[in-house]
Amino acid sequence: MIALSHVVYSYPKGGFVFSCDEAEFPAGEVTLLTGPNGSGKTTLCRLLCGVLRPDKGYLLIDGEDATAWPLGRIGAHVGYLLQEPSRQLFRPSVFEELTFVPELLGRDPQETAAKAEALLAEFGLTRLKDRSTLTLSRGEKQRLALAALLMGGAGFFILDEPTTGLDTDNRRILYDKIDELREKGAGFAIASHDRDLLALSPRRLRVTEGRVVRED
Ligand SMILES: Nc1ncnc2c1ncn2[C@@H]1O[C@H](COP(=O)(O)OP(=O)(O)OP(=O)(O)O)[C@@H](O)[C@H]1O
Ligand SMILES: [Mg+2]
Repeated sequence: MIALSHVVYSYPKGGFVFSCDEAEFPAGEVTLLTGPNGSGKTTLCRLLCGVLRPDKGYLLIDGEDATAWPLGRIGAHVGYLLQEPSRQLFRPSVFEELTFVPELLGRDPQETAAKAEALLAEFGLTRLKDRSTLTLSRGEKQRLALAALLMGGAGFFILDEPTTGLDTDNRRILYDKIDELREKGAGFAIASHDRDLLALSPRRLRVTEGRVVRED
């Protein structure tokens, strides 16, 4: 489970203040983050994955105070899909995008390659394996960023508007993947306005003007 406790955060520039008394994201459950544009959903996502650190309060990972953990240590538990996927693609080719970090972490290259091939097939990216990531369509970038996220060993996933740019078939693949991982015990926090995605789980947190309100 990951959680925020008594968190306050304000951006260094601009007057937006985010606050959250208690928000819990259990393992094996999908928690949906709803709320209008500019309400603070992405800010909440950034606080949950350590990209932003609270001015006050705590980030808890499996009961431990992770507020000051280095990003790499948080990243071993929490995978983060940015709202703008092209910003998280940084390797020259599609295949390398999947294998670079695991190999850097010293994982077995053959196992890594096999896992990458399997994810490419699952997300319909096999024919793009050697393509430059710069040339991908938005939907292809989104699928690749998701596949790259699943290459890591995180047990918790933060997905910021993950279905943006995906057509019906690819949305279905994503919903099924989320369900499959959830059944295996993964936890999800998902910011979305996608009605079909919202049907995946009754667990909701609504963000309004920087405040987090539990809906269910
Ligand atoms: N780096 C930043 N510096 C200053 N203000 C920021 C920064 N990033 C976001 N904000 C402000 O924080 C507020 C919340 O933004 P955030 O991106 O969290 O909203 P959101 O709910 O994700 O919106 P959307 O639905 O459009 O994605 C907005 O007013 C935004 O302008
Ligand atoms: Mg956002």
